[in-house]
Amino acid sequence: MSKILEISDLKAIAKRRVPKMFFDYADSGAWTEGTYRANEEDFRKVKLRQRVLVDMTNRSLESTMIGQKVSMPVALSPTGLTGMQHADGEMLAAKAAEEFGVPFTLSTMSICSIEDVASVTTKPFWFQLYVMRDREFVKNLIDRAKAAKCSALVLTLDLQILGQRHKDLRNGLSAPPKFTPKHIWQMATRPLWCMQMLGTKRRSFGNIVGHAKNVSDLSSLSSWTAEQFDPQLSWENVEEIKKMWGGPLILKGILDVEDAKMAARTGADAIIVSNHGGRQLDGAPSSISVLPKIVDAVGHQIEVHVDGGIRSGQDVLKAVALGAQGTYIGRPFLYGLGAAGKAGVTTTLDIIRKELDITMALCGKRDIRDINRDVIAE
Ligand SMILES: Cc1cc2nc3c(=O)[nH]c(=O)nc-3n(C[C@H](O)[C@H](O)[C@H](O)COP(=O)(O)O)c2cc1C
Repeated sequence: MSKILEISDLKAIAKRRVPKMFFDYADSGAWTEGTYRANEEDFRKVKLRQRVLVDMTNRSLESTMIGQKVSMPVALSPTGLTGMQHADGEMLAAKAAEEFGVPFTLSTMSICSIEDVASVTTKPFWFQLYVMRDREFVKNLIDRAKAAKCSALVLTLDLQILGQRHKDLRNGLSAPPKFTPKHIWQMATRPLWCMQMLGTKRRSFGNIVGHAKNVSDLSSLSSWTAEQFDPQLSWENVEEIKKMWGGPLILKGILDVEDAKMAARTGADAIIVSNHGGRQLDGAPSSISVLPKIVDAVGHQIEVHVDGGIRSGQDVLKAVALGAQGTYIGRPFLYGLGAAGKAGVTTTLDIIRKELDITMALCGKRDIRDINRDVIAE
């Protein structure tokens, strides 16, 4: 792993090790992928102030997200099908995050179940919820997250209808993969991935199969998912979920000031400024471009977090400077996982920590908690 210096190195390795349909699933955005690209490009437009001759010793990246201590303000985003980037992917990523001292968020649409992840971790992780029409199933998921001692519920608001990602349709993406000649070829050319996948029994949606009504086998699953996401989800439902859960709540997928104001009124603990990594509304602005407006509007009422396009520790510093108390990485940890399993996720976090630390020092700061818009160059 010695020649791996930046996240793009991990991405290149993941591309060689993960079957095309799953690599593409991570590396894709909706329609033209314009918002996906803007998320990354707009970080590059934010410039930092170089300061000199200030004491740079004793630096600290420790902070808090929703009052919980983090070794740096970076959490792992909830991502579906993570166990298809690498066998038992969610369990490996959760362990890497725990050892690093940052939050891991398990997706509803994960391959490993809530119980699987709880069985290999010792500290609480976070659980991301998609609200389904089958409210009994939702209640059951929440109860399972409580039983697993999850310390936050991340409620995703921006995917009640699925955005179209051309690559997934062209690739015929499914979990577990179909056995057509094309799919068999994609897997046969990734023998290590296949061997590891044959060594686990976790190859389908672990939170759903065997838990949701009438989903005991895989043939019924895809139609169930398409039918189940509730397109009538409302702010009243958010209140209901908040009550049902009764613990720290984070609302994910806010990109508009008006929505941010509504979210702040719910009494949730934080919002995540997010466009789902450019996978939903193509043509929406990048997350980093709307962050300052949202912080100005609601930052005094609710903690503001951000995700989308973070590819380095420099990006984390820029997000914190523009008012984010916490940040999340999706693809960067998926690339690490696809490249080298748990060690790859640790490498992702190491790279980001090092870049964040050096950037902070070169901006003349020693404590991440002192970072504000002062470090941004006009
Ligand atoms: C492959 C993939 C799967 C995702 N699945 C989910 C999901 O199940 N639930 C969710 O709330 N967000 C999901 N997201 C969105 C991420 O949580 C996050 O918002 C996004 O990845 C951040 O952008 P980044 O990948 O540029 O860091 C997914 C993103 C990716 C790349």
